[in-house]
Amino acid sequence: MDTPNPTHQPTPSHQPNPTHQPPHSPHPDPSPQPNPHPDLTATATHAVAGQLIEQSLGHLYSAALRTAALLHLADHLAAGPRTAAELAQLTGTDTAFLRRCLRYLAGRAVFSEDGNGAFHLTPAAQFLRTGVPGSLRDAVLMLTDDIFVRSSSALDETVRTGAPAFPKVFGAPFFEYLKDHSASRALFDTGMAAFSEPVDELVAGAYPFPAEGTVVDVGGGRGGLLRHVLLRHPGLTGVLFDQEPALRDHVLDTADLTGRWRTEPGDFFTAVPEGGEVYLLKHVLHDWADEAAARILRSCRRGLAPGGKVLVIDSVPAPGNAPHPGRALDVAMMTIVTGRERGPKELDELFARTGLRRTRILPTPTFASIVEAAAAPD
Ligand SMILES: C[S@@+](CC[C@H](N)C(=O)[O-])C[C@H]1O[C@@H](n2cnc3c(N)ncnc32)[C@H](O)[C@@H]1O
Repeated sequence: MDTPNPTHQPTPSHQPNPTHQPPHSPHPDPSPQPNPHPDLTATATHAVAGQLIEQSLGHLYSAALRTAALLHLADHLAAGPRTAAELAQLTGTDTAFLRRCLRYLAGRAVFSEDGNGAFHLTPAAQFLRTGVPGSLRDAVLMLTDDIFVRSSSALDETVRTGAPAFPKVFGAPFFEYLKDHSASRALFDTGMAAFSEPVDELVAGAYPFPAEGTVVDVGGGRGGLLRHVLLRHPGLTGVLFDQEPALRDHVLDTADLTGRWRTEPGDFFTAVPEGGEVYLLKHVLHDWADEAAARILRSCRRGLAPGGKVLVIDSVPAPGNAPHPGRALDVAMMTIVTGRERGPKELDELFARTGLRRTRILPTPTFASIVEAAAAPD
């Protein structure tokens, strides 16, 4: 697609000048405006405009990644490069269309094409392989699934109403919907486990866990984080706590952890297992609006052993507009659930309502930080 040439005078309907619009008017001022960016050269303006158009087609990048994951393209390249024709034969697809899709991805460093028309894996494409350590294929399939995509498509409605689109689109709040849709539940649990896997080991290594005691992973999903914590600290035992279906395919039942863990199904709004020295809440608080998040924290506070700690592990974007992966997650939370990514100030407000106080924030080598809280003095 050609990008618009902004050096031409924009037609009024394409180039509203927001500074001349009446406040809150949904309609642009139809009068012609001068170049709104006189300080940019024509070339630079054109590049910015082209970038905006490309970004507007960002959903196609997401769809192309999904296609690559569904067709197992990275798996087919694991043994060496192949041409589009070879890949098309292996995947039962159209050679010319597949080549176009591959070239689009290669333009973003997912796959590369050599002079003979053969496609190769790149570092990014390696993550699309199945069954390799750190594989993100299941995370890509979750994040590009209808449960995310259809909710995101209604972002304008979400922003207007201040409520997630998911319940309106799918007929029930996210976690209620998962209770009644086992395929979506499995997709979410598998996807979250993949999303978390590269992060879990690094998070486990970024916190000075006590040598002994019990770690309770609240809303722990399949238990990837708890697994890494227990492997690093042989004196600890663990409880994996979540809704029953999430626990079904947990990852704790291996010979190296024998006798050191148990699972417990339940509802963290009611109670969590008691007596833990450490309560993990990884990517849990960010699913919930303040009142619900406070109820989860209160449950943990009631369970804490004397001197125990609650660890909130989420992306904690710094104030300001510096790019941060948490920003996209924050918008995703807006469309699907009632939650948000919270900065230190918002977390402190939650802690203050729940008998906790922040003791420190530890960075990790990942986009997530560890926010440690302890019982507030009476
Ligand atoms: C975003 S996932 C995070 C999973 C895991 N901690 C991780 O980082 O991969 C949120 C988890 O909260 C669990 N959850 C949601 N509502 C719950 C409830 N009422 N009681 C217990 N767990 C719940 C979900 O089943 C899910 O596993």
